[in-house]
Amino acid sequence: MKSVKIKGGVPLHGTVRSQGAKNAALPMMAACLLLKGEQMTLDNVPKLQDVETMVELLCSLGASIKQDGNKIIFDVPENISHEADEAPVRKMRASSLVLGPLLARCGSVVLPLPGGCSIGSRPIDLHLKGLVQMGASVEIKNGRVHASAKHLRGRRIYLDFPSVGATENLMMAAVLAKGETIIENAAREPEIENLASLLRNMGVRIDTEGTGYIRVNGVEKVTACIERVIPDRIEICTYILAGVMTGGEVKVYDVALDHIAALLAKLEEAGVSFSVETDASGEHSVTVHPVKKLSPISIKTMPYPGFPTDMQPQIVAALTLSKGVSLVEESVFQARFLYAAELNRMGANIGIKGDTAVIQGVKSLSGATVQATDLRAGAALILAGLAAKGETRVENLEHVMRGYEDIDEKLRSLGAELSLEPE
Ligand code: EPZ
Repeated sequence: MKSVKIKGGVPLHGTVRSQGAKNAALPMMAACLLLKGEQMTLDNVPKLQDVETMVELLCSLGASIKQDGNKIIFDVPENISHEADEAPVRKMRASSLVLGPLLARCGSVVLPLPGGCSIGSRPIDLHLKGLVQMGASVEIKNGRVHASAKHLRGRRIYLDFPSVGATENLMMAAVLAKGETIIENAAREPEIENLASLLRNMGVRIDTEGTGYIRVNGVEKVTACIERVIPDRIEICTYILAGVMTGGEVKVYDVALDHIAALLAKLEEAGVSFSVETDASGEHSVTVHPVKKLSPISIKTMPYPGFPTDMQPQIVAALTLSKGVSLVEESVFQARFLYAAELNRMGANIGIKGDTAVIQGVKSLSGATVQATDLRAGAALILAGLAAKGETRVENLEHVMRGYEDIDEKLRSLGAELSLEPE
C-alpha cells in the first residue's frame, strides 16, 4: 500500500485551485446510461481513482468513454448490458448509482450488492424501496440485486432519511418513468442540484430541487447534453483546514461560497479569520489567515445544509490543537471515528462517547506512523501530519487518492515538505 511521509510544522502559504466535486461527478457519469445512441460531455471532472472505477464500470456496460484531461465524453449505444460487473462495484459503493438509470433504460438490472466500509454498513434499502414504489420488482440473491420493471411509473415517494444516493438513483429512474415523480424529504446537497441541472440539459423537466422536494416529469427519450461539475466543497474545506492547522495563509479559488457556509461559520466561531474575494470573472476564492490557537467549539454533522459528515474527521483533527474541550457529534454515519485512535497515537486526546468525540485540546501533535481507514480519515491524518512536530507517515494512501486530485503536488505547492512512498 502506498504511503506519504510528511515533515510537519511548516506553515503553508500559497494558492490552490479546487477540483471538480467527486460526489457530483460520479452520479452525473452514471446518468449517461439514460442515453440511447447519444453523447454526453462532462467538464471539470476530477482525475481520481473513483472516477476511473466509474469509467471501468460504464465501459463494462457498453458505454465508450474518451477522457481528455478534466473533460470526459460518453458515447452510449442503443444496446447496453444491464448487468454490472462485480469488481468495480466491490471497489466503490457509488457504483450503486447505476441502479436507477439502468432499470429505467433497460427494464432490468443486476447489481452486486455494494459492500459496507469502515464508516458503516451503508445499506441501499431506501434506494430499493423507492424503486419498488415506482413499480419495480426487486429480489436479492447470491449477493446481487435483481430488479425489473416493464415500465416504471412516476409517483410520490417519501424518503425516511434524506439519503444522497437514494435521491440520485430515484431522480434518474424517474427520468424515463411514465408520469410525474415527487421525491419528498430528498437530499439537498449541492451535488443533487448539479445532477438535476445535467438532467434538465438532457431535456427533463425538474424543479424545486435544493428544497428537499424534487419533482421530475418523465420523458420518452433524453437528448445529448453538456454539463460542468461544480467545485468540490469537501476538498476546498480540507485545504482551508491545512492552512488553519499549520498557522499559514492559504487561498483556495474556484469556490462556491454557499456550499461551504457551514464550515466557514464554525471556523469563525473557533476564532479563524478568512477573507472572501470575487475576481473580474465572478469566480470566488477564500483565503484563510494565520491563527494562533482555535477556540473550542461543538459541532453536530447533519445532511446539507448542516455541517457535512465528510468534513468531520478533518475538523476533529483541527480541534485536537484547540484551547479547550470540543464536542463533535456524528449523526449521519454509524461509525465514523475509527481514525481517532490514530490521531491519539500522534498525541491527541480524543475520547469517543457513543456518537460523540470529546476532544481535549493539546499543545502540539507529534509525528508517528498512522493508517488511513477511509478517504476522509486519511485526509485528517495528513492534516495532522502537516501540523505535527517531526515526521509522520500516513499508510494506506490509496484511500486518499480516491478523492483528492494530486494532493501531494497541491500541498507541496503550498510549501509542505512531503514525499510519496511506493508500496
Ligand atoms: C454520499 O454517500 C457521499 N458519497 C458520501 O461521501 C457522503 O458521506 C454521504 O453521501 C453523506 O453526505 C457520494 O456521493 C459518492 P447517504 P451515500 O445515502 O449516498 C444511510 C466521501 O467521503 N442509508 O446519504 O452513500 C447510510 O447508511 C463519501 O466522499 C440507509 O440507511 O450517503 C448513512 O448512515 C463518504 N439506507 C446515511 O443514510 C439507504 O438506502 C447517509 O447515507 C441509504 C443510506
